[in-house]
Amino acid sequence: MLRGNRVGLRARHEEDIPILKAELYDDVVNSSRAESRPWRPLTPGSKDPRLVVDDQEPGHVPFSVVELDGGTLVGTATLWGIDNHNRSAHIGLGLRPAYRGKGYGTDVVAVLCHYGFVVRGLQRLQIETLSDNAAMLRSAERNGFVREGVLRSSAWVLGEFLDEVLLGLLAQDWKPGSKASAAA
Ligand SMILES: CC(C)(COP(=O)(O)OP(=O)(O)OC[C@H]1O[C@@H](n2cnc3c(N)ncnc32)[C@H](O)[C@@H]1OP(=O)(O)O)[C@@H](O)C(=O)NCCC(=O)NCCS
Repeated sequence: MLRGNRVGLRARHEEDIPILKAELYDDVVNSSRAESRPWRPLTPGSKDPRLVVDDQEPGHVPFSVVELDGGTLVGTATLWGIDNHNRSAHIGLGLRPAYRGKGYGTDVVAVLCHYGFVVRGLQRLQIETLSDNAAMLRSAERNGFVREGVLRSSAWVLGEFLDEVLLGLLAQDWKPGSKASAAA
C-alpha cells in the first residue's frame, strides 16, 4: 500500500468492482467527462481494463483508493501511458461522488507523484483534464503541476466540443513535503 495523509493506494480487489462500476462507470456524465471516449454499458463480469486489472500490462498501473482510517473504498487512481524511454507517464483519478470535495483528490495526486517519481523513477508526469474541471485543476496545481497548454475543442463531451488543459510536473520541480510515503 502507498500512503498519503488520509488515503491509501492499494491493489484492486474483486469487491471494489461493483462499487466502482455503479458509481463511476455507469454514470454517463462522469464517464463521458472523464474518459475521452463514448460511454457504453458494461456487461457484468466483463474484462473491462478500467475495472479488471491485468498485472502483466507494464504501461498501466491501476490502484483502488481507500481511506486510511477504516479502509473504505473511495475511488480509483491510475498511472498510465508509462514510457520508460522518455521516463514519463500520465495520471488519472476518479472518486466516488460522496468522497469528492474533502481533500482526497489532492492527496491522491500526491501519492501518484510519489509512485511515479520515487518508485518508478520517472522524470515527467502529465495530466489532461477538461478546462472546467476546477477540482482536478486545483488538485494538480496544489501538487506543483503547471498548465502547459490548452487543447482547444479537443474533447467531444455529450454534444459539444470542450477544451482540455494539459498540466505537467517534472521530478526536479516536485516538492513531496510530507504528503506521500511508501509503506509495506
Ligand atoms: C477531480 C477529483 C478527483 C478532485 O478530487 P476532490 O477530492 O474532489 O478534490 P479536493 O477536495 O482535493 O479539492 C481540490 C481543490 O479543488 C477545490 N474544489 C473541490 N471541488 C470543487 C468544485 N466542485 N468546484 C471548484 N473547486 C473545487 C477545493 O476547494 C480544493 O481547493 P483548495 O486546495 O484551494 O482548497 C474529484 O472531484 C472527482 O473524482 N471528480 C469526478 C471525476 C473526475 O473529474 N476525474 C478527473 C478526470 S481528469
